[in-house]
Parts: sequence; structure tokens; C-alpha cells
Amino acid sequence: MAAATVRCLLTIAVVLAPFLAGATAGGPLSTSFYSKKCPNVQGIVRAGVASAVAAERRMGASILRMFFHDCFVNGCDGSILLDDTSTFTGEKNAGPNANSVRGFEVIDAIKAQVEAACNATVSCADILALAARDAVNLLGGPTWTVYLGRRDALTASQSDANANLPGPGSSLATLVAMFGNKGLSPRDMTALSGAHTVGQARCATFRDRIYNDANINATFASLRQQTCPQAAGGASDAALAPIDAQTPEAFDNAYYTNLMGKRGLFHSDQELFNGGSQDALVKKYSGNAGMFAADFAKAMMRMGAISPLTGAQGEVRLNCRKVN
Ligand code: HEM
Ligand SMILES: *[C@@H]1O[C@H](CO)[C@@H](O)[C@H](O)[C@H]1NC(C)=O
Ligand SMILES: *[C@@H]1O[C@H](CO)[C@@H](O)[C@H](O)[C@H]1NC(C)=O
Repeated sequence: MAAATVRCLLTIAVVLAPFLAGATAGGPLSTSFYSKKCPNVQGIVRAGVASAVAAERRMGASILRMFFHDCFVNGCDGSILLDDTSTFTGEKNAGPNANSVRGFEVIDAIKAQVEAACNATVSCADILALAARDAVNLLGGPTWTVYLGRRDALTASQSDANANLPGPGSSLATLVAMFGNKGLSPRDMTALSGAHTVGQARCATFRDRIYNDANINATFASLRQQTCPQAAGGASDAALAPIDAQTPEAFDNAYYTNLMGKRGLFHSDQELFNGGSQDALVKKYSGNAGMFAADFAKAMMRMGAISPLTGAQGEVRLNCRKVN
């Protein structure tokens, strides 16, 4: 091949590389979506999450979970943020979300600041994607590039939320299938579950496990039973416990060490280390914090690319709680 042709092909490859990389990591999204339209958006979001996490460290965990619950229900489209109205029943009061998902006022406050800087430009879905990334990083976890350009849904579905979000009693086969339905591999699922290294859970979500499961560390079960009595239906249903008993406010790999010691808080957590296909990976993450951090970041980028609305689809909401 002539040298000029080789140079020309190389130039094409170099010019196309970012787009090809974008295509794998972010689908139709891009890293530069707001660089002209709202150059300060990333700084505004980061500062908003930082102040919320400084006021209450758990909020970092809550925002991360909100993003997961947005993406798994008809894609990362800000649908979880829509309030119910008299004519509309959205996702906030679906089983996995009601009295559970929190942080809406943090997103509202960030959105107000973003609107003040760049009116009617940045979607609520993108704000949530950036906020989840910053939340992980502020708690000591990895960071990653957030591909942008998601638009906001015009609707939300309570029944889709009930159908698409895994519950704490799920088996490994169910978890693999539910993540597979979203284009995520078993490895992505096991890495993303490491989010349970931060945050809190209500007694109602782990009561069955601490009283009825056999594959649980007895010391750990009795510790949790002290604040989560066996009788369901009372005020204790809402009693909180850290999901990672070792370092509940640090985004580290202790979750996997817990699983190896049969100290997973949810039945679904312990399914990842119970003699099945994910045992070897749990062991690796437990012994290699860097590997977990890198895999978690990659899996978050893939989760963030689930079925976005782009181009002329949806809208950029002015208020994250309601359609324009
Ligand atoms: C693998 C399937 C999953 C199941 C069955 C599951 C289930 C749960 C449950 C039952 C809670 C406690 C909710 C409550 O008590 O109100 C919880 C909390 C949490 N989940 Fe998951 N989850 C899963 C995956 C994920 C993923 C993929 C992420 C994020 C990438 C995530 C992040 C969180 C966080 C951070 C909390 C604590 C939230 C807070 O303190 O406000 N979870 N999860
Ligand atoms: C922001 O933009 C929307 C839509 O273009 C407009 O209705 C609204 O008045 C604007 N708000 C401010 C404060 O400029
Ligand atoms: C149970 O967990 C505790 C820490 O909470 C640990 O000291 C103990 O060795 C564990 N027991 C077993 C049998 O793994």
C-alpha cells in the first residue's frame, strides 16, 4: 500500500476513534453533548451532590440507587422523577420505590441551579446520570466518563417499575435474567451489586433472610435480629440497617468479603456467593479492589446507556417532577 494511502487510513481511524468508542460505551450518547450548550453542567452537578453528601453521607447511596431504578424501567429517561398526578400513576409509588427511593429534593435543587445557568437545556435524565457518578466517587469509589444527551420521558409506568426491578428475595437465575433483559451480563450484574457496599435497608426487605435462610453467618443474623424483630407489619418494618456492616459509608469492596463470610444482607446478595456461577468473581472482587472498581465503572457506563431517548424523542423537562 502506498504510504499516502496508509496515512490517509490512519487519519480516518484516528478521527473516527472517539465516535467508535462512543458507540460502544454510550450508544447514541456523547461526552461533548453540553460542552457548548452548558459548559458548567458537570461542575454544578458535582457541587450539588457534594453538598448533599456532606450534609448526609447516605444520600450518596440513595442517588446511586435512584439512577439504577430509573435505568431499569424503560431506560435512563428520568421517568422515576415524575410525581403522580390525579390522572397519572408513575414509578415513585411502585413496590420497590415507595417509602424507599430517596433524594428527589437533591435532584430538584441541582436542576434549579442548572436551569439558572442554562435554561431548558440539560435533561433530568442526564443530571441523574452525572449525579450517580459523582455520588460514587464522593463516597470513595471510582469515577468514569458519563456519556450525555439523554432526553426526559413524557410518561412513567408504575407497572413497568414493579415488573422490571429485582426484589431482595430473587434467586441468582432471576437476577441473571433480569439484568440480561437490559443487555447486562452476569459479570455486570455482580459488579453492579457491589453498590450494596453503601447505604441502608429496611427490616422488611431482609427479615426473611435473617430468620429463615440457612446460608447466613449466625453472629451476623443475631446482630441484625436485634433491631429487626420477626413479627412483620409493625413500625419495625422500617427499621434501618447498613447493607455493608463493615464500612457502610465507604464505597469499597467489603461487600464481596461479606458475601464470602455469609454476611450478605439480602437473600439476593448471598445468591452471588452460594455455590453458583458468580462465586469465582465474588472471590476476585473481594481480593482485588482495583478490579472491582474498574468493572463497576464499566458496568455503570453500560447501565447508563440502557434505551435512552435521544434527538427529538421526549423533551428536556423544566421541572424534573412534571412534564412540560
Ligand atoms: C441485584 C439486584 C438488586 C436488588 C434485589 C436490590 C435490592 C435492594 C433493596 C431491597 C434495598 C433496600 C431498600 C429499602 O430498604 O428501602 C436496596 C438498597 C440499595 N440498593 Fe439495591 N438492589 C439491587 C441492585 C442494585 C444496583 C444495581 C444498585 C446500583 C448500581 C443498587 C444500589 C442500592 C443502594 C445504593 C441502596 C441503598 C440506598 C439507600 O441507602 O438509600 N442496588 N437494594
Ligand atoms: C426557560 O425556558 C422556558 C422554555 O423555553 C421558558 O418557558 C421559561 O420562561 C424560561 N425561564 C427562564 C427563567 O428564562
Ligand atoms: C461470622 O462473622 C463474624 C463477623 O461478624 C466473624 O468474626 C465470624 O468468624 C463469622 N463466623 C463464621 C462461621 O464465618
